[in-house]
Amino acid sequence: MARRVLVVGSGGREHALLWSLSRSQEPLDLFVAPGNGGTGALARNMAVRAEDIDGIVALAREEAIDLVVVGPEAPLALGLVDRLQEAGIAAFGPTAAAARVESSKAFSKALMRDQGIPSASFGTFTEYASARDYLEAHPAPIVLKADGLAAGKGVLVCQTDAEAQDALRAIMVDRQFGEAGSRVVIEEYLTGQEVSVLAFADGRHVVPMVLAQDHKPAYDGDRGPNTGGMGCFAPAPLLDAALLQRVTTEVLQRALDGLEAMGCPYVGVLYAGLMVRDGDYKVLEFNCRFGDPETQVILPLLETDLLTIIDACLAGSLDSVAFKWSSRSAVCVVMASGGYPGSYERGLEIQGLERIPADKDLIVFHAGTRREGARVLTDGGRVLGLTALGDDLAAAMSRAYAATAAVRWPGAFYRRDIGTRNLAKGDR
Ligand code: AMP
Ligand code: GLY
Repeated sequence: MARRVLVVGSGGREHALLWSLSRSQEPLDLFVAPGNGGTGALARNMAVRAEDIDGIVALAREEAIDLVVVGPEAPLALGLVDRLQEAGIAAFGPTAAAARVESSKAFSKALMRDQGIPSASFGTFTEYASARDYLEAHPAPIVLKADGLAAGKGVLVCQTDAEAQDALRAIMVDRQFGEAGSRVVIEEYLTGQEVSVLAFADGRHVVPMVLAQDHKPAYDGDRGPNTGGMGCFAPAPLLDAALLQRVTTEVLQRALDGLEAMGCPYVGVLYAGLMVRDGDYKVLEFNCRFGDPETQVILPLLETDLLTIIDACLAGSLDSVAFKWSSRSAVCVVMASGGYPGSYERGLEIQGLERIPADKDLIVFHAGTRREGARVLTDGGRVLGLTALGDDLAAAMSRAYAATAAVRWPGAFYRRDIGTRNLAKGDR
């Protein structure tokens, strides 16, 4: 009987995970909770929210799920993997204790400091007065981070001292991010280019994936507010082989060793966000999961069976997997709702999806969409991820952008410069 695999989440990342799993050598019965307007073509959409831990565990039991693959950070931080393990169900992703690399900035910074992982200098504070004193001693530009998960919004990059003082008050006094603001990390402002290094981890061994570069600001030329990511390309040329080797041993392996020594071995995807400058780097953050949109360009370049890798991570035998990556390039252009990352309308009909040519080098990943009969409606900020492959980046870009031109709904927007950083040899 085919193994029954449940993917948890509803974004472009989860659509990409299902797409990759659906190409496995092994026939699989795929489920997704809750999924979106595109995932139904590959899996059964089950109406349980990703953060509903009891609901997901019950669903996995009822559907006799053999393996759960968790996409987003929130259920990981809430202990979904712990709960599934207790229920005897295999789950790919870190336990809540290991997920603290993302769910607590203070934990993450302490891990980096204790393991000698290069990162920005910092202080951690639970008292407003001492945090304010630290700001007085460390002039802007400076970065403030609310300790807990704040849906990607708890990081405030402050260019002036006044901005920093206001941000500190907003986090610690006004509790703009709720409980996440009971502790704050204040850290040195870093400049350079950001690159995402995602790696598979089995608790002891770690294998980096092809490098991806996200485009976080909403508008062309890196202007406008920060988003979850407006597009991505891979491979990103920012780290040469020597620097990637350093990152693997100095960042990924040290993090794994530290977590194992603390009694919370890390199994899943470990994502290190790096700032690279002048041939050197520092870690900005860890995430406890696949990135989005990074996954939408990384998995289409993975030629090894994703299921084989996940099985090896769970068995602690990642070192025995032969990894194969395509030598081609991938670009993902995110189409977003007008107003994102601020407020936006939902329920607008998406037109033109059928006009996108059938092409094996073009994949339409759905994110914030839902189906209503034959219609596909917008249902989130990031709506679609149009991913294209090409023999080089320019070919992938033109294929992805040709597809965006076919699709429309009122207010839709996307960046027109995804991938151009690489064409400019990484210089800004
Ligand atoms: P984080 O969630 O920690 O990655 O922060 C979100 C974004 O804020 C990062 O992708 C960077 O663009 C920016 N950021 C975070 N930390 C720093 C820092 N120390 N210096 C400059 N920018 C930062
Ligand atoms: N694209 C950034 C993230 O997944 O955190």
